[in-house]
Amino acid sequence: MSKDAFYKYNLQGVLKVTKAIPGPKSTAMLEEQRKYDSNALVYPGQVPLAISRGLGATVEDLDGNIFIDFSGGVGALNVGHSNPSVVEAVRRQADKITHGLDFPSEPRVALSKKLVGLAPGGLKNNSKVLMCGPTGADAVEAAVKLAKFNTKKPGVISFEGGWHGVSGISLSLTAKRSAKANYLPGVPEVYFAPYPYCYRCPFGLKHPDCSLSCAHYLEHLVRDSDTGFAAPGALLIEPIQGEGGIVPPPPGYLKEIRRICDNNGLIMVADEIQTGFCRTGDMFAMEHEKVTPDIMTVSKSMGSGLPISGIVFKKELDTWGPGAHVGTFRGNALSCAAGFAGIGFMEKHDLAERSRHLGQRTLKRCREMMSRLDVIGDVRGRGLYVGIELIKRGGSKAPDPDLLVRLQKECFSNGLVAWKGGRSGNVARIMPALVITEELLDAGLSIFETGLKKVMAR
Ligand SMILES: Cc1ncc(COP(=O)(O)O)c(C=O)c1O
Repeated sequence: MSKDAFYKYNLQGVLKVTKAIPGPKSTAMLEEQRKYDSNALVYPGQVPLAISRGLGATVEDLDGNIFIDFSGGVGALNVGHSNPSVVEAVRRQADKITHGLDFPSEPRVALSKKLVGLAPGGLKNNSKVLMCGPTGADAVEAAVKLAKFNTKKPGVISFEGGWHGVSGISLSLTAKRSAKANYLPGVPEVYFAPYPYCYRCPFGLKHPDCSLSCAHYLEHLVRDSDTGFAAPGALLIEPIQGEGGIVPPPPGYLKEIRRICDNNGLIMVADEIQTGFCRTGDMFAMEHEKVTPDIMTVSKSMGSGLPISGIVFKKELDTWGPGAHVGTFRGNALSCAAGFAGIGFMEKHDLAERSRHLGQRTLKRCREMMSRLDVIGDVRGRGLYVGIELIKRGGSKAPDPDLLVRLQKECFSNGLVAWKGGRSGNVARIMPALVITEELLDAGLSIFETGLKKVMAR
């Protein structure tokens, strides 16, 4: 394997899938976990991986098998598993202090300052930060509370296919029915608008002939006093939907949404929890369209593997007072140190550019695959954030989640952790750590293609 600059950030000896998968040690650990952890766990049921260590875009299981990891910690590991700069910063911080509530400390203030300096568009050097709890959901809760505090209006617009977490407010704003089952009622006055999922346009239209009808429909819902919307005050949108199946909106859409927000007094919240920190080829996905949100939520790669979340918002919205959104672990010192070091690594190695480069390579390869394999209905993405939508044969475009379940297992047996998403669970997601080497990326895509051919033939 040739040594590109990122070689050392990954485990060597990859594709050493020598033992049965899962091997005896992994099997024992998976069984042990099942005894004690709740049935609510999801991933070990999909991919029987018991982890011993990870580096970059690679993980090793307890039996010594090394896998290419296309999940990238679902967006939390843009700098890779156990990135050496991050590990070193955490070690140094652990020797000083690990937990400091919201008292100022070096890593906490450094990270806030960094976020303000990197924020997209008009937020840059003109925003405030609220460090939130360990999960992205908490940032969503904070963003919606801040918006409502400012507008004094209860209504929030979210989007079909959107995912914003599973706590109270955030679950209400998440679209997936299975995630909400039995937990209703959620918070009132939440409205779901159609997202521009052009492959399956709910209006049956095609871009660009549609003239962004979905945005105009949203405007109608907001403006017409008889559409059932009670005083909408905020709008929450993923600049590219992630869990919904990596769905980038068409050009101009986010600008339209900004215009609609401005004309109707809505606070625009961009949820960059999954898209942030170089994943889509820019530090934040809102930058592609040069649209400034009023509030931006961040988490996942904000901590480069350690748990943290936050909101970055226009200064003038900082109208609430002490205690408005508090909690014990908000802005944990170790997470702040990890986050600051991780962002430093992203900047030093220009991971945004690397994401664009590797993303082009991946899209090209996947589109070639699509031309050969009729079970691939759509390939889309931005940067190294690519979705491959699997469909049943016969021209109906019917989603084929079962095929993806079988493909994920087949890939795993051959050394690749493949990832799933999409409204129907039929979208393979390619979002490895951005430190993946070209060789590992190509090898992973080859495992994916060979596996797909095999499972479609069964
Ligand atoms: C866009 C987006 N927002 C919010 C969340 C919720 O984050 P967490 O699972 O950390 O609560 C997620 C998680 O996948 C997400 O992708």
